[in-house]
Amino acid sequence: MSYLVAANWKMNKTNAQTVEYLQIFKKLYREPLPNVEVMVAPPFTSLSTASIQLRDSLIKLGAQNMHFEEKGAFTGEISPYMLKELNVEYVILGHSERRHIFGEKDEVINKKVLSAIKHGIRPILCVGETLEERELGKTLNVIERQVRSGIAGLDKDVFLVDIAYEPVWAIGTGINATPDQAQEVHQFIRELLKSISKESDNGCRILYGGSVNENNAKELIKEKDVEGFLVGTASIDPERFYKIITHCLEA
Ligand code: 13P
Repeated sequence: MSYLVAANWKMNKTNAQTVEYLQIFKKLYREPLPNVEVMVAPPFTSLSTASIQLRDSLIKLGAQNMHFEEKGAFTGEISPYMLKELNVEYVILGHSERRHIFGEKDEVINKKVLSAIKHGIRPILCVGETLEERELGKTLNVIERQVRSGIAGLDKDVFLVDIAYEPVWAIGTGINATPDQAQEVHQFIRELLKSISKESDNGCRILYGGSVNENNAKELIKEKDVEGFLVGTASIDPERFYKIITHCLEA
């Protein structure tokens, strides 16, 4: 199974900045890498531009969110149909910022996961505990609840999902989980997935996210169950993002 290294730009970059970034990035990443798949998730307003820029490139396109319905009266929302037309192959779902700032609940996230798969878009389901939950010793309970509810109803199709473990306390703080902390949770998720469906071994990757950068990626990726990264801040700069990718190549 190849690693997946994904850039979540969040609410950063205009269309012009998207072109500028991707032109630099395509020059850096021009040879296929044997064990690494690379995805970039710009904001919705840049998807069309990015789709044109990435045509015939090695870089996959992702979206940062999606509504579960195909169309209708949902002001401000974007549907899987709209994403498919732009060659979007991945969608980040249940990101901690969606859960905590915009109040997305497990049930809605599950609907989005099911809808993405139905439309042939691969979901990256994000899970992660808050600092308070970690300190109360509830990390694995929270992760189990978020994973189980996120993939509920998938059964044998579980292999069509990737999971990103993103501890809330590590996102945008500069404090990453240590390799040991990440491995503990990743191993737990791997075993949980196996217990739900053996098919999970056929494709589900477990990514780590939360203050990943060019300095800590090398150690994190050495962990057995760390199978890629979901990168925020450090992915905003094409050179930093590319360095993170090269650490996976060496692993
Ligand atoms: P940072 O890399 O900025 O901590 O963000 C992580 C993240 O939320 C990726 O989805």
